[in-house]
This record gives sequence, C-alpha cells and structure tokens, in this order.
Amino acid sequence: LPLHSLNSDHQMDSLSRALLFDFHGVSMTHYFTNNWENVQNFQARPDDILIATYPKAGTTWVSYILDLLYFSKMSCQRQTTVPIYDRVPFLEIAVPALVSGKDMADHLPTSPRLIKTHFPVQFVPKSFWEQNCRIVYVARNAKDSVVSYYHFDCMNKVQPDPGDWSSFLQRFIQGKMVFGSWYDHVNGWWKKKQTSSRIHYMFYEDMVENTGQEIDKLCSFLGVSPTPEEKNSISVRSQFDSMKKDQMANNSTNAVMDFNVSPFMRKGKVGDWKNHFTVAQNQDFDEDYKKKMKDSQLQFRTEI
Ligand code: A3P
Repeated sequence: LPLHSLNSDHQMDSLSRALLFDFHGVSMTHYFTNNWENVQNFQARPDDILIATYPKAGTTWVSYILDLLYFSKMSCQRQTTVPIYDRVPFLEIAVPALVSGKDMADHLPTSPRLIKTHFPVQFVPKSFWEQNCRIVYVARNAKDSVVSYYHFDCMNKVQPDPGDWSSFLQRFIQGKMVFGSWYDHVNGWWKKKQTSSRIHYMFYEDMVENTGQEIDKLCSFLGVSPTPEEKNSISVRSQFDSMKKDQMANNSTNAVMDFNVSPFMRKGKVGDWKNHFTVAQNQDFDEDYKKKMKDSQLQFRTEI
C-alpha cells in the first residue's frame, strides 16, 4: 500500500488533545469533523465493506479477521509490513499533515475495500446506502466499553483529556464522548439493521466466547467460503495473545498512542468493568441504563 497514516515516522509534535463540541447533536472532535464534506461525498463501491462500531467495541479485532478472510492468500507482505490501520482506513479521521482516512480509502488498491468508521448511523455517507454495501456492526456492552474507552483516552494523545475515572464515567452516561452517546449509537444502528439485510450486527461478547462461530456467521454474511484449515488459522491468529504480539495489529507503530500509559491491546476480556466500578457507581449506572434502554431490544451479555 502506498499510503501511511499514523505511522511514527511522521512529525507528531503539532498534535494535541482535542476539545469536544456538539456536531449535529453528537459530541465530536475536530479530528473527525475536519474533513466532513469530503467524507460525506465519499464514493463507495458496491463491494466495499464498512466496519462500523462505537469506539472500543472490537473494531481492530473484526478488521483483522476480515482482512485475513479476504487477503491472507494474496501476499504475506501485506500482513507483515502494513499496519492494520492502513489496511483498513478510518474513513473520517483527518489529522493535520497526515493523509486523511478518506484519501487512504480512495487509494486502496484492494478489492473489496475494507473501511472502518465510528460514525453513528445517521452520519454514514449516503453512497454506502446507495451502493447497497455490506456493513459489519460490532457492539460491546456499555460497562466494558466505558472502561476500555477510559484507558484509551488516557493513552491516546489526540483524544480529549479523560480526567479521573469517576468524571469520565459521568461523561459517558451523559453521552459526552467522542462519537457521542453509546446508547444512541448501539440503538441507532440496531434500528437501521431491522430494515436492512446488508447490516450484520454482532457482539464482542460472542466473539470472546466463540470466535469460530462468529467467523462462520461473518463468512455466510459476506458470502466467502474459506476452507476449514483457513478458518481455523484465522481463528488462531486473531486470538488476543497472538494479535497483541503482532506489531502490525497492536498499534505499537501508531504515533498518537503512548504505550507507557497503557497498551492498545489491553485486556481483551468481558467483565473487566468489575475491577473499575465501585458498588455505588454500578448502582447509579444500572438505574440510568434501565431508563435509557427501556425501549430497546438489545441485550448484552456480561456474565462471561
Ligand atoms: P480492552 O481495552 O478491554 O482490552 P477497538 O479496536 O474498537 O478500539 O477495541 C479495542 C478493544 O478490543 C480493547 O479492549 C482490546 O484489547 C480489544 N481487543 C482487540 N483485539 C482483541 C482480540 N483479539 N480478542 C479480544 N479482545 C480484543
């Protein structure tokens, strides 16, 4: 691939933590709205595959699996020399002096193109719908999402200042996170899925419990048929410990991240929230969650 986005070779001194602001009713930062018009005018192709998530839901994991499903036979150089964030560009990212995600996506030489977004459903460029593209949406339970997001915002030098854990948790409940409210995001995409057979809605918790089964479901949604050996190899390669060791998957070459604070591949578990929430925080969270989710069909599993 000719283009690199976030590689540490770049001069990152001018970058700083962004401020949140309201953008069409969603909390955003300028790194993801700078290029809004170009992104909205993105020309999708019918075979493009969009990987959509609220941040920290397992985007990198599913991107990695899809990349292996389509391209592991093509060239092993792709997997050993190109970081996952360049193989699967992040559509809306626009960091000054670096190639924007939209330009990267425009220049992807592969077919299909795998493209990542954290947009809430109403922000998705219209050509993805017009071209009837396949979309894989991954959801993760709220409590593990906020814990993962907290560690991420601590270590990511362009995210808003996270503050302390309890104020971060309050902000999450209020929806004042980059890409807005978790509740609006998972429910907005869920509603859209009810009217579109082109959206595959999956859960991080199911991936943790049975990666092979979730890969099978992905294959039937995408219409790809790897051999049992290939499928097994993808399942093994995409396990947490294996991806954590893979420099092209673990973001260790990503210059906006400070690994002295926390690794990107942090724990990869369901239920880590229990190590972060106090009893009182958990009670308040549950009470608010019930209100916000009372009309939702979505059920998340935190028992595993
Ligand atoms: P934790 O911070 O809880 O460890 P995203 O890619 O959407 O930013 O999500 C990152 C989260 O997914 C992190 O969660 C990361 O560890 C987890 N993750 C990434 N690859 C994984 C894998 N192969 N298995 C389990 N979890 C994985």
